[in-house]
Amino acid sequence: MRVLNFWNVKGGVGKSSLCYLTGEILRDGGKSVLFIDCDPQRSITKTILDDLDGKITLFDIFMHGKKLNESILSSKGFSIVPSSLNLLRIQESVEQNRLADEIETLKNKFDFILIDNQPTWNSIVRSSIQACDRLIMPSMISIFDLDEVAFSVAEARTVRKSLPISIVLNGLGNADKISNDEKDYMDSFLLNFKNELAKSKIPRSILVKRIIDRGESLFGKGSSKEKFRQAILNMVQEITESKIKLMEVA
Ligand SMILES: Nc1ncnc2c1ncn2[C@@H]1O[C@H](COP(=O)(O)OP(=O)(O)O)[C@@H](O)[C@H]1O
Ligand SMILES: [Mg+2]
Repeated sequence: MRVLNFWNVKGGVGKSSLCYLTGEILRDGGKSVLFIDCDPQRSITKTILDDLDGKITLFDIFMHGKKLNESILSSKGFSIVPSSLNLLRIQESVEQNRLADEIETLKNKFDFILIDNQPTWNSIVRSSIQACDRLIMPSMISIFDLDEVAFSVAEARTVRKSLPISIVLNGLGNADKISNDEKDYMDSFLLNFKNELAKSKIPRSILVKRIIDRGESLFGKGSSKEKFRQAILNMVQEITESKIKLMEVA
């Protein structure tokens, strides 16, 4: 069981999108996937589940002593611990070991646990950092995003000094042809985070919205879809350090 945690203190950088797409690739590669939605914005929860009425959420686990395995729901070939808007009420009350202890009780029931996180720095995020095997930090390639990445890497290392971190540059203009501006930004990332910067880069693509919001498949004909799927597959293989063989799902 490997736990990947998608976090950056900046919002709108692709945490939820890349977390969800990683889940699709792993599922379509025959792996069992549990999402833990730590973000009160509930992107992954809303993508996967239709109705949350009366369900146990991560808030009940943190605040009402519920157990992780009581809260797991299944949909679309995934398992998920749903989020709740109530997570906004929690700032500093979650113990750092809490999520790790809960995950421990699952006893390797899943191949992968994917945590989608909130763009902030509080006790929920710290608990998720304590619980993960690798931090995945999506970032857009803008010079303005460097400070947030530096802050996020430094704070994460206060919880786990030698935690593996992969910074994934997301939203590149054109996968084949990188503009001079983009190259400059990448050079500054390389300079500052040469140990953390992932080799794989994710292009900007309309497919992100179509796949996540409209439920379109990652499979399908057309060179743009094939290129995009390959980019996501490369990233997933890099951040999971494993070879994934995709099986097309009906
Ligand atoms: N590679 C991409 N290409 C195009 N749009 C993207 C890409 N990554 C993210 N987006 C879009 O950017 C917005 C923010 O992405 P999201 O994953 O919700 O970010 P976060 O979870 O970090 O706040 C969403 O509307 C999403 O569809
Ligand atoms: Mg999000």
